[in-house]
Amino acid sequence: MTIDMTGLGSIDRSGGRVSVDEKAMINCRADVNQLLPLKYHWAWDKYLAGCNNHWMPTEVSMQADIALWKSAEGLTADERLMIKRNLGFFATSESLVANNIVLAVYRHLTNPECRQYLLRQAFEEAVHTHTFQYICESLGLDEGELFNMYREVPSITDKAAWALDYTQHLEDPEFRTGTPENDQAFLRDLVAFYVIFEGMWFYTGFAQILSLGRRNKMVGIAEQYQYILRDESIHLNFGIDTINQIKIENPHLWSERFQQEVRTMLAEACELEVAYGRDTMPRGVLGINAELCEQYMHFITNRRCAQLGLEPVFGPAENPFPWMSEAMDLKKEKNFFETRVIEYQSGSSLDWD
Ligand SMILES: [Fe+2]
Ligand SMILES: [Fe+2]
Repeated sequence: MTIDMTGLGSIDRSGGRVSVDEKAMINCRADVNQLLPLKYHWAWDKYLAGCNNHWMPTEVSMQADIALWKSAEGLTADERLMIKRNLGFFATSESLVANNIVLAVYRHLTNPECRQYLLRQAFEEAVHTHTFQYICESLGLDEGELFNMYREVPSITDKAAWALDYTQHLEDPEFRTGTPENDQAFLRDLVAFYVIFEGMWFYTGFAQILSLGRRNKMVGIAEQYQYILRDESIHLNFGIDTINQIKIENPHLWSERFQQEVRTMLAEACELEVAYGRDTMPRGVLGINAELCEQYMHFITNRRCAQLGLEPVFGPAENPFPWMSEAMDLKKEKNFFETRVIEYQSGSSLDWD
């Protein structure tokens, strides 16, 4: 009998009822159309947390940002360069991440509660892409310049190209999990997108804009980034939990050699991010510069290693931006930027960074 892992195969009329024990993260034989009985409550909880954090970019007023952007002396040339390259990186990255979820991850993650979360995450990535469309329109930016930076600015291209290497063969219609080699290829894709793209490369960008927000500059964008950061911290943690659960169920995949490979991926990714930091802040701006971002990235890289149960890549590194954790906690710091904050529900989930 062929095992249907997509959920679109023929219905097995004589099959037994699904039990929790039959459910598995990858290569699952149980019907993926049956959400209940739940097995992975952590995935369901993240779906609920994502829904509780619902927001739309158009609810944030852009008036102060527009006035500042259009005024001659409100921002320095270095600040403008940093903002533009920052927006240019995010504008296409959100779509890249969304395409990876929908075209590569979804098909191979054979569990309905995880897929439920992926559907929510895919929508959130659409909201994030919408944010950059809204910012571009509000500030009257050159859309061709912004949305082509990932092809035209080498430090941005390098990151996108590095990540694409890990997803390209997975979206091949012929690709199937089920062999140790292909299961590891799938794990690499999860590391590249969840841990590195969303969990490392977004963080320099968050720190840049939130640092401006702390100085009362571009407060509308800063507020939007705060919401994106809140969403992304759940995406990251979903990815970490997913990888760790696959490890538990398939310990043979997490070999010593594979662990070293993942550490190398994280080290390479950190280097690419440091180069991006230099490129976006060649001289630095008040409160943030390439050196501090490098230190921050070492701190983040070590933290991601710990979350995956790996030895750290760098020696002990301190967080140079302790205010980032406050920015993440919307519930505690409702008036972080003293702009309008809309909370749909209780905004849970905030200890997930
Ligand atoms: Fe996103
Ligand atoms: Fe994300």
